Amino acid sequence: MNSTILLLILAVVLALAAILLWWLLIATEGVYLGRRIVTWLYDVYANRYDSIKAYVPDWEQWTLAEPIHKMLSEIDQPLILDVATGTARLPAAVLTAPEFDGTVIGLDRSAKMLDMAAQKLNADRRVSFVLSDAVALPFHSDTFDLVCCLEALEFVPDQWQVIAEIVRVTHPGGAIAITNRKGWQRWLYPFRTQDTQRFVRELQRRFDLDSVTPTLWQMDYDLIWAMKGTAKTS
Ligand SMILES: C[S@@+](CC[C@H](N)C(=O)[O-])C[C@H]1O[C@@H](n2cnc3c(N)ncnc32)[C@H](O)[C@@H]1O
Repeated sequence: MNSTILLLILAVVLALAAILLWWLLIATEGVYLGRRIVTWLYDVYANRYDSIKAYVPDWEQWTLAEPIHKMLSEIDQPLILDVATGTARLPAAVLTAPEFDGTVIGLDRSAKMLDMAAQKLNADRRVSFVLSDAVALPFHSDTFDLVCCLEALEFVPDQWQVIAEIVRVTHPGGAIAITNRKGWQRWLYPFRTQDTQRFVRELQRRFDLDSVTPTLWQMDYDLIWAMKGTAKTS
């Protein structure tokens, strides 16, 4: 074999290795390399996360804070859990209402993401943060009036296990808000995502949920609202 062909083969192998690395570390943010790598990547990017995402405050108010306040308006001092809270996107939206008299707990596996969250909302006594894995939520069953998990289910090894935990800690009759990844980027995550209709069907089949309602939310995510059935978790 002459040296030109050898060089060509080497170039192709290097290019394929670079694409594989890009897919594993950048495109899919470590999800196929395990929870430790996902957490490490979020630790590394934590101080840039908000500027990369550039959430629009009015949109956050309209699609998250307003429906949540309306939903919880009859409840005295409601308790909200935000699973995989990141830099406190959901707590920040909910707490912009000074009249909100409840408590929001933000949980995440990345200490650096929680540092950023705490810097943002530290002065607000209505929020606290918990460093934990979503796979086993460190709370009693039937505790929260609302449990959210935004833009995170594709990062956990078994999303149904995490949803089971979300349902478990939600109060009977309480609300749940979770997202399902969609759009062309979904195809970067084989075995981790499904289309929203199928996701909703599985939610209804696996869990005691009422009023499961998918809504169009962002380019890459649908937002699904549901109510936990009123039977107590055993
Ligand atoms: C794309 S960010 C979403 C953050 C926030 N919910 C938002 O909408 O901005 C994904 C978050 O999931 C967290 N995460 C990933 N795997 C986790 C796990 N197993 N347990 C808890 N948090 C996890 C990451 O640390 C990261 O903060």
